[in-house]
Formats: sequence, structure tokens, C-alpha cells
Amino acid sequence: MATAKRSILYIPGSNARAIEKARTLEADALILDLEDGVSADKKQEARAIIMKALERGGFGTGEIAVRINGLDSPWYSDDLAFVSDIPCDNVVLPKMENSDSVQQVRDELGTQINFWAMIETPEGVLNAFEIARADSRLNCRVVGTNDLRLEMSLPDTGDRKSLQTSLSLVILAARAAKCSVIDGVFNDISDAQGFIAECLEGRQLGFDGKTVIHPSQIGPANVAFSPTPKDVQEAREIIEAMEIARQEGSAVTTLDGRMIEELHARRARRVLEMADIRNETKE
Ligand code: COA
Ligand code: MG
Repeated sequence: MATAKRSILYIPGSNARAIEKARTLEADALILDLEDGVSADKKQEARAIIMKALERGGFGTGEIAVRINGLDSPWYSDDLAFVSDIPCDNVVLPKMENSDSVQQVRDELGTQINFWAMIETPEGVLNAFEIARADSRLNCRVVGTNDLRLEMSLPDTGDRKSLQTSLSLVILAARAAKCSVIDGVFNDISDAQGFIAECLEGRQLGFDGKTVIHPSQIGPANVAFSPTPKDVQEAREIIEAMEIARQEGSAVTTLDGRMIEELHARRARRVLEMADIRNETKE
């Protein structure tokens, strides 16, 4: 069954205290980072901290991913050897730009581990579909909005109008490949309202969840990407109305003045499935 990915928390691999804290947090998934969140002189130390933490376990049932450094970095080979050796669920590949780069990592990585691909450059966005279909083990796309802004020469602040086309292209590609797609981070930890607004915008665009950088962002992301009680109630009513219509030999009916057909029931079943996954995650 699909696992929830409403909130995916980045934790610098060099920060043992933050990794320890993650055992008590309700993030749906964790990205233990070896890339941008770790300075050049701490890469080796970060690998040792991650190894120790994973061997100890106790992170709950959510997925754990380790983000390695890029193919052209001096740390790539050591990172690949490292992730082949540790009990994590996924490897996060930064700055994927085409299917060749995904296939290269797959061929060089000895194990059968799953990947998440980060799309965070203009070339990556334009090749998002080919990346999405590069390998069946590539089961999640994560947008890196900070890098994308930099590479597109966009201002660092303000709304996301100028990113919208890129975000939608990545979502379309992920949906065409039938896999999860997660929004980028919101940098201003002190702006709780701004964070919620960006989560809701991400949900409207079609993302499954949001990458987060601080414990205070986990709860609001979990709420924003969960069906509300009203959504669940409506979904039940739609399924019931369609069932009655079907028994009467009709393919369409109305509910509160709105036309509904089988595709609405299909969407309603997805809402209930999402609500179930969320509940299981909470248990
Ligand atoms: N994961 C787990 N715990 C975290 C955390 C994270 N990403 N960020 C903060 N915490 C913990 C702190 O360790 C602290 O725990 P404590 O009370 O047990 O000491 C608590 O949450 C409060 O932290 P706070 O003091 O508010 O923040 P900070 O100044 O320690 O850290 C950041 C601020 C931005 C440096 C930190 O949140 C961080 O490193 N985030 C991730 C950044 C990252 O990975 N970037 C690369 C990908 S975009
Ligand atoms: Mg990045």
C-alpha cells in the first residue's frame, strides 16, 4: 500500500541531535541529508552519524531516505558505497537532469534500493517526463525550489507565480509515470501563515506533500495534505449516491444539485483511501 508523504523532513546528516529528535516527530518520512545540508568538511562525520542512527532504529514506520551528493561531486562514490551498506528505504538523487543520470546511478549502485529524484534545474524540469520513466524503482519526485529559483535567476522571495509552470510540468510528468510528487521547502520558519498558504497552494497544484525543514512545519503540512472531515463526508455521500444510481441502471445522477458520475466516485474512493492511510500513519 502507498505510504503517506504529507511531510518529509530534511535533517542534516551531521546534526546528531536533530536526527535523535526525529524519533519523536510525526513527519511521514525523513530525508537524512549528506548534500547541501552538510558542509564539505563534515561529509564523513555525517555518514558515521547516519549509520549509527539507522542501526539503532526507532524512527517509526515512515520511510527513511538518504540524500547523496551529486554525480559530479567529490563525495559521490563514497556516498554510493555508503548507501549500499545501510538499512534505509530510499536514496535521494539530487539535481537529476535526464534519464542517463538516473540510469548511471542505478548501474553504479550495487543494491536494489528505491530512488527519489530531485528536480531542481531548468533542464531537469524540461526532461521531467523522461526522468520519471527512467527506472521503475524511481518512485517519488521531489522539487528543489531553492536551487530552481537560483538556476532560473528568480528573486529569492515573493510568490511562486514564476515557478508555477515548472511545478506543473514536474507534477504532470510524475502523474504520467504514476508516482508521488513532493513540493519544495518554505524557508521562513517564523512565518507560520505563509507556510500554510504555500502548502495549500501546493495541494491545489497537485502535490502529494511538502518537504519541510523544521519540526514546527510538520503538523501544518500533515493537516494541509490530509482530507478534511468534510472531504470524507462528501466522499461517502458521493459513493452512496452513485451506488443507488447504479442499482437504478443510471450512469449519472445528482447530489446537492451537482452532476456526478463514476469518475467522481473513483475520486471519492481515493479520498477515503487517503484518509485511511493517514489514520494508519497516526497509529
Ligand atoms: N529535524 C529535526 N529536528 C530539528 C530540525 C530538523 N530539520 N530543525 C530543528 N530541529 C530541532 C532542533 O534540534 C531543536 O531541538 P532541541 O530543542 O531538542 O534542541 C528544535 O528542533 C528547535 O530548533 P530551533 O532552535 O528552532 O532551530 P535551529 O536553530 O536548531 O535550526 C535550522 C534551524 C534551519 C538550521 C534547522 O532547522 C535545519 O537544519 N533544518 C534543515 C535544513 C536543511 O536540511 N536544509 C537542506 C535541505 S533544504
Ligand atoms: Mg538542492
